[in-house]
Amino acid sequence: MHRHELQEVIEHLHARYRSLTDGDVATYIPELAKSPPDDFGVSLVTSGGRVFETGDADRPFTIQSISKPLTFGMAIEEFGQEGVARHVGVEPSGDAFNSIELQNGTNRPHNPMINAGAISVTALLHARFGQDTMDLLLDRLSAAAGRRLSIDQSVFESERRTGHRNRAIAHLLLNFALVHDEAEDALGVYFKQCAILVTCRDMATIAATLANMGRNPITGEQVLEVQTVKSVLSIMFTCGMYDYSGEWAYRVGVPAKSGVSGGLMAVVNRQLGIATYSPRLDRRGNSCRGIELCVELAARFGLHTFDCLNSGSSFLEVMLQDQTESNA
Ligand code: DON
Repeated sequence: MHRHELQEVIEHLHARYRSLTDGDVATYIPELAKSPPDDFGVSLVTSGGRVFETGDADRPFTIQSISKPLTFGMAIEEFGQEGVARHVGVEPSGDAFNSIELQNGTNRPHNPMINAGAISVTALLHARFGQDTMDLLLDRLSAAAGRRLSIDQSVFESERRTGHRNRAIAHLLLNFALVHDEAEDALGVYFKQCAILVTCRDMATIAATLANMGRNPITGEQVLEVQTVKSVLSIMFTCGMYDYSGEWAYRVGVPAKSGVSGGLMAVVNRQLGIATYSPRLDRRGNSCRGIELCVELAARFGLHTFDCLNSGSSFLEVMLQDQTESNA
């Protein structure tokens, strides 16, 4: 049978970047140091629900910071943009993901994609939902992934035991009354949300849900409101790759989010969810192979938001239709 061009291309890119062994596995969470450095998976899910994948696309790993866009979206739906804005800003920080830096004047964290901002968002949800918060987060992430997700207890315990820097951030936020009194419990939820196990396919489905206006294209479930998706994607576009966000926007040009266990998810609005998994990270905490593969994939198909090939977000859609017809 004729193989789809997207499948051919991801296999080619996977083979090409497998030899890239730059970077190191994260070790500041002791359990993450055990991640197999050579793991490498790629998964694409289109906004029409077609799946293309290669390599270790079914290997589970912890979602880490890639949970942050979803918790931010939930907070927006619960408290509105203004309610959330009292606790966290929307400016790229230009600082590291774990930086202990708050905005002048308001003392808010710069944005919800860095640790400080994400802790503040999770605390906001925890102030309203208390002990139910984790179940609600897990339900929403599971709906976006299209299957029931679970938590890696050993990674959770490992970070809870050693996450002194995040604990310091939570207490600094408490000092400024930006989180409620139960900061320690909220932090527990934050560590747990980071320890949710996903595969590349799950991440690509979450990305495709965002690409598809909040509706999971495989299950058909509406996971986030359409208006929420706009807020989530803008923050991912400007802040999702931490202090590499500007360069990423320049080179790849789509909203994205990375995590320290080596996951990277990117969204081509109205077209495609992209996910890569490779645990070796650069000094900013982004997956080395993931970045390079996405740069080339975006160039190859004109996925950059401002690429003239991407006009009307219809390029891939047309290509997918053509190939479906020629396969028929
Ligand atoms: O809070 C932390 O440090 C981790 N649980 C998540 C950080 C993360 O994924 C940053 N990503 N590159």
